[in-house]
Amino acid sequence: MQTVVSPGVGNTRSEAFVNVADRNTYAWWAILLASVALAGTVGPLGGFFWVAALALDDVLLWGFGKSLLFDSQLRVRRNYQWIHNLYDGTTGAGRDLGFNLLTGGRLSQRAKYEHMAKALGLRKGMRICDVGCGYGDWLRYCREELGCEAVGINLTPEQAAYARREYGLEVHTTNWKDIPGDTLLRARLYGRFDAVTFMDTVEHYVSMEDRDDLPKQRAIYSDMCRLAADLIDPNSPSGRVFVSCLHQTRRPRGWKFYWHAYFMDKMYSGHYPFVDEGPLAACRPWFDVLDIEDRTEDYRLTGVVDRSHFQAVSVRPTPRKAAYAAALMLLDPHVLHRLMYYACDSWMFFYGDDPYSPEYDPERRRKTSYVLLYWITLELKRGGRHGRAISAPL
Ligand SMILES: C[S@@+](CC[C@H](N)C(=O)[O-])C[C@H]1O[C@@H](n2cnc3c(N)ncnc32)[C@H](O)[C@@H]1O
Repeated sequence: MQTVVSPGVGNTRSEAFVNVADRNTYAWWAILLASVALAGTVGPLGGFFWVAALALDDVLLWGFGKSLLFDSQLRVRRNYQWIHNLYDGTTGAGRDLGFNLLTGGRLSQRAKYEHMAKALGLRKGMRICDVGCGYGDWLRYCREELGCEAVGINLTPEQAAYARREYGLEVHTTNWKDIPGDTLLRARLYGRFDAVTFMDTVEHYVSMEDRDDLPKQRAIYSDMCRLAADLIDPNSPSGRVFVSCLHQTRRPRGWKFYWHAYFMDKMYSGHYPFVDEGPLAACRPWFDVLDIEDRTEDYRLTGVVDRSHFQAVSVRPTPRKAAYAAALMLLDPHVLHRLMYYACDSWMFFYGDDPYSPEYDPERRRKTSYVLLYWITLELKRGGRHGRAISAPL
């Protein structure tokens, strides 16, 4: 078994400033220009108009579930562009953007991939689609080690470009939510695959705006499951879906929870489903639930053992990275929020008491954590041939 905390291959300079001109950038420019204009006309205090605008947007977002200025789905993409340009060793190999399994006290990405391949019943010649595929490491494993045909879907252009360029993978740069309305993609992808995976990506699908809107959440998770069913060839011997998703627990929360949730959302943008409100509940019309595993400790410990993992990342500063962050302040309203996210170590807070404990202790974690990482295996319901369905812990 191979150990996988490898340095990766780094990012190329030419990718640093691409794909950042979007609606959020234009809204931010308008606010900055208004601040300069107000500073020149009403006095120095007018220069703080941008602070007032961001505060107003947050009040609307947290109080009323509306964001007038910035699009949260664009923020997801922006976050991964930030990671792409600032983190060392994210790309190409090793942890990629997910986590590893702890086997014999060592982190192993290979053990994780072997586990997934077994759960999906993957065999040579089968076809797999990975939604939210990151840099494509899992797909590369499927193609090179298992002999599968492997296709990715990803919102983040830099990651998709990497998977195409470095691994020669077929990766479609799109939000999966746009696939059902895209005739060309439907024709190319629907009914083509034996299995579909969603690895640590579902957490982005519901935006903070919709955190109290259960019907909207149900619709998003249902659309996700319907898409998975549409991607699968109904005659496939697998017909399975593997989901890795952080869920919220119902542990009581205080102000610290909301403090960290604020910075988490500004960094990553998204909403974790409760177990009984997420994909496990939404999948039933199309899928049987074959298996549910609690992998919270593997996820947490990946950040503990590997301090350059994105959960607990310590960014090694270089002049180029400092210049990138400074330049991004002119393009992106949430650079200061991201720096606060690091300063507060917000991600690890959600694992509850003693988040850097080196012990693998799922029982204790279940009691103290605000999050639960579930691995879920689903199987397509087909006339008469249903999988070994189990009851989900709803
Ligand atoms: C935490 S990374 C996980 C990447 C990869 N699955 C892994 O396990 O290493 C989340 C990925 O989901 C992608 N993503 C998020 N929302 C998406 C959407 N609506 N459509 C397509 N991709 C999405 C991001 O671009 C990113 O690559």
